[in-house]
Amino acid sequence: MNTVQDFDAGTLFAGSASGIMLKGWAESSPFTPQKDPCYRFPAWMADIVAWMACGHDPLYLFGPTGCGKTSCVKQIMHALNYPVYELTGHSRLEFPEMVGHHTVQNGSMHYEYGPLTLAMKQGGIFLLNEIDLLDPSTAAGLNSILDGYPLTIAENGGELVTPHPMFRFVATANSNGGSDHTGLYQGVLRQNMAFMDRFMLVECSYMSEEEELDIVRKHAAGTLDDAALVQMIRYANAVRRLFMGHDAEDMDAAIEVTFSTRTLIRWVLLADMFRRVGKKEPLRQALDSALTFRASHASRMALDELFQRIFG
Ligand SMILES: Nc1ncnc2c1ncn2[C@@H]1O[C@H](COP(=O)(O)OP(=O)(O)OP(=O)(O)O)[C@@H](O)[C@H]1O
Ligand SMILES: [Mg+2]
Repeated sequence: MNTVQDFDAGTLFAGSASGIMLKGWAESSPFTPQKDPCYRFPAWMADIVAWMACGHDPLYLFGPTGCGKTSCVKQIMHALNYPVYELTGHSRLEFPEMVGHHTVQNGSMHYEYGPLTLAMKQGGIFLLNEIDLLDPSTAAGLNSILDGYPLTIAENGGELVTPHPMFRFVATANSNGGSDHTGLYQGVLRQNMAFMDRFMLVECSYMSEEEELDIVRKHAAGTLDDAALVQMIRYANAVRRLFMGHDAEDMDAAIEVTFSTRTLIRWVLLADMFRRVGKKEPLRQALDSALTFRASHASRMALDELFQRIFG
């Protein structure tokens, strides 16, 4: 039987003991996330460690797309052997998707638990991604769970699910719950104030140049040299600055796409593959497939000009 185990956060993540103890499991489960060999923890992971170490408040991570919110939770939980039960929010998401529903198995009715119930029963993380896409009244229906109270499943004969002491609730989103002011994250809804009041919040951001270099170097596995990778990261950061409405590389243009770490990794992998299959201008064409093709006409002109400035 799996048992709860204390881990020193410093030993686990920084190579030397810190005295900050985190609860995890002695063994991994089929729901424990796999290790990402190219992963590097961002600076803001310390906030998640602090959350793990103190109290039982639910956690709400917010920040731009592809900055690593979901993967950071999963990599921390991998280290702690924690099972993670994951679900992605959407405007029509309702309780049965989280809690469970009846299904027919071998001709008879059977109640199948959803990810929230499994996490509550087994002492896992319920990871609800894109929580700000939820209808605010559905989200507010989670309030008593967030407060640590049991769940009653009326559809399963009124089953009472008492939260396991290791149960934790983590939400991720692109907004801070107060709606999306950029207008670019379609479907984001302003959440109920009492609901948001229950969370500890952490703001997540893209990594520094040096951190991203470390990551893309692992993905490139020597096929692109550091000089090329540094230029690609410089380009990504310039796109992020233009997106945020700042000047970049002596340019002042408004664009509606940004450069996530996810896109950067895709660009690196495609640049190598396009070169190997003999495409002309592999870096440029890989950038089109990774990012530029989904931009508006005006933004594409700005992205092309930026490419000329950085890559000549
Ligand atoms: N710190 C990191 N180290 C290595 N790879 C990373 C890191 N952060 C992000 N990535 C890469 O970027 C991808 C996207 O990250 P992730 O899905 O965690 O972003 P997100 O912030 O949850 O995005 P979204 O808001 O779109 O859901 C990951 O699958 C991973 O490949
Ligand atoms: Mg995510």
